[in-house]
Amino acid sequence: MNKQQHLQSLWQKGTEFLNTKYAIMGGAMSWVSEHNLVSAISNAGGFGVIACGSMTPDLLDKEIQLTKNMTSKSFGVNLITMHPMIDELIDITIQNNISHVVLAGGLPKSSAIKKLKENDIKVMCFAPALSLAKRLIKLGADALIIEGMEAGGHIGPVATSVLAQEILPNITEVPVFVAGGIASGAAIVSYLNMGASGCQLGTRFVCSHESIAHPNLKATFIKANARDAITSVQVDPEFSVIPVRAIANKATDEFIEVQMEAIAQYKSGELSKAEAQLKIEKFWAGALKRAVIDGDVENGSLMAGQTVGMVTKEQSTQEIIDELIQQCEEVLGNSINLKEKFVANA
Ligand SMILES: Cc1cc2nc3c(=O)[nH]c(=O)nc-3n(C[C@H](O)[C@H](O)[C@H](O)COP(=O)(O)O)c2cc1C
Repeated sequence: MNKQQHLQSLWQKGTEFLNTKYAIMGGAMSWVSEHNLVSAISNAGGFGVIACGSMTPDLLDKEIQLTKNMTSKSFGVNLITMHPMIDELIDITIQNNISHVVLAGGLPKSSAIKKLKENDIKVMCFAPALSLAKRLIKLGADALIIEGMEAGGHIGPVATSVLAQEILPNITEVPVFVAGGIASGAAIVSYLNMGASGCQLGTRFVCSHESIAHPNLKATFIKANARDAITSVQVDPEFSVIPVRAIANKATDEFIEVQMEAIAQYKSGELSKAEAQLKIEKFWAGALKRAVIDGDVENGSLMAGQTVGMVTKEQSTQEIIDELIQQCEEVLGNSINLKEKFVANA
């Protein structure tokens, strides 16, 4: 078996499930993963996913149409389960004959999974632990994504490498895709060797030519190192903060000040506990759009994973995917050469 065939066999379950050439998913990124990037990823042989984020059903409908105009390849839609109009958004995916829906942002309702499946839509869910992975399969999930805390955006507490060891050997019923901290073919091959059916990358695609992210955001990504992409800081155990990984900026420091101010106002009786918590939660409202679309890299949220340090230039999406495939094949080619050397010397 040559290295191309080896790669194909390693992720066959994933490519068959996604109906793609490569089992590389472009993770949905709110404001970034719209029709331009999604179609570019799918046209390059991967699997683009529209980030519905806070879109209205009408906007999602338009976004799907625009994506279909730009690709005839397979792509998916990512829906946030706690969106207040989740039922209407599901209807939009059904009306548009979408093939795959990724349900993100908390445990999905079994009725949502059921409705999608009844309409021949493949459902993918995020599994943050082995017990939940098993529960999601029972609920009907057709595939799982495991995403570690190296990822950009909203994160869980566990590293990708640990989730992979915990979950991959124990879930064989459905394809499992690994996300978080992946930006090279070597990492992709290592997870495929551990039993993954494919990988999902987000940060790596933000600076593609097709990404509509503002040039200021792209420049900040290109300058940043892995250690600049930090998790949000929670000042007080009583006042929860949603864990998000983003590049540190002025807003990161201000967020700490706002938390301290809200806590002080609560302690002095100026604000109730709920009001103080709300003040903290409201801080990041609209902040991702501010950075991605408006280019305000000081006051916006610069969501990025630790692999941001490996984003060193703007490239076309096709170049990024070709580079990843070349790296995968290089690693597999090296292992074939090593085996041949070993046999020759034996
Ligand atoms: C700017 C940004 C926005 C994101 N928005 C979403 C989202 O709306 N829904 C979602 O499920 N994941 C979201 N993610 C996570 C990605 O889909 C993907 O799983 C993650 O980026 C993979 O890890 P990586 O950043 O290390 O490649 C976002 C990530 C980034 C960087």
